[in-house]
Amino acid sequence: MAFPRIFAHRGASSLAPENTIASFAKAAEVGARWFEFDVDVIGDGSLIVIHDDKLQRTTTGKGGYYNLSFSDIRTLDAGKWFSDTYRFERIPEVADVISFANSANMGMNLEIKPCYGGTELREKLIENLAVAVDSVANTERFIVSSFDHEALARFHAMRPNIKLGWLFDRENQPGPTWQQGADLLRCTAIHPDVNGLTPEEVKEMRDAGFDVNVWTVNDVDQAQELASWGVTGIFTDRPQDFPAEAHAL
Ligand code: G3P
Ligand code: MG
Repeated sequence: MAFPRIFAHRGASSLAPENTIASFAKAAEVGARWFEFDVDVIGDGSLIVIHDDKLQRTTTGKGGYYNLSFSDIRTLDAGKWFSDTYRFERIPEVADVISFANSANMGMNLEIKPCYGGTELREKLIENLAVAVDSVANTERFIVSSFDHEALARFHAMRPNIKLGWLFDRENQPGPTWQQGADLLRCTAIHPDVNGLTPEEVKEMRDAGFDVNVWTVNDVDQAQELASWGVTGIFTDRPQDFPAEAHAL
């Protein structure tokens, strides 16, 4: 039975602290060829790799980061919460992650987080991201996605050649439907939530010409069933459970 493409979600996030270089390196170690990571902006315009808009779940910091500079962020430990093995792991900057992926020859899905830092910071995020992605070595194996479709549109205007993924969840779908929105931006992929996803919906997306990359799937049998529906990729916290043939894509 076929597999979809495997994206290590926030790195190998069941084995190492999510969204750290250790987690991306662990993904490579267990055979993954692609990983996903989350990006937001801080007060000085630096782009940091983090899922939440607060620091406390995954770092030794507390509260928001939109008024911090990278010198503040550097002092935080982003690994200790996960285990002592990963003490001293730092929040990476986007440039560090891109350079890691370039040297490990890995594909990437960069997810732009909905930034709550105000209009000016949101603009900075997109401008600085456009410059950062110029260092991606293999843009064929690089996708930018977001739930914030306005951010995706602004990024697309600056870097029209970068492939886009239209992220959505069913509970929280603002603006146009996946088809209208994704067509408008010439997205190559739709990134739906696995919950509530049906084979009919996948067929509709595939028939419309899109790749379909589904989040978050931590079960190998479920991944294979999704592939049989036509799903092209899955995001998983457990890339270590998949055989080498699944990681070949
Ligand atoms: O990009 C797929 C998935 O990561 C989207 O949700 O909340 O895990 O960033 P989240
Ligand atoms: Mg994500």
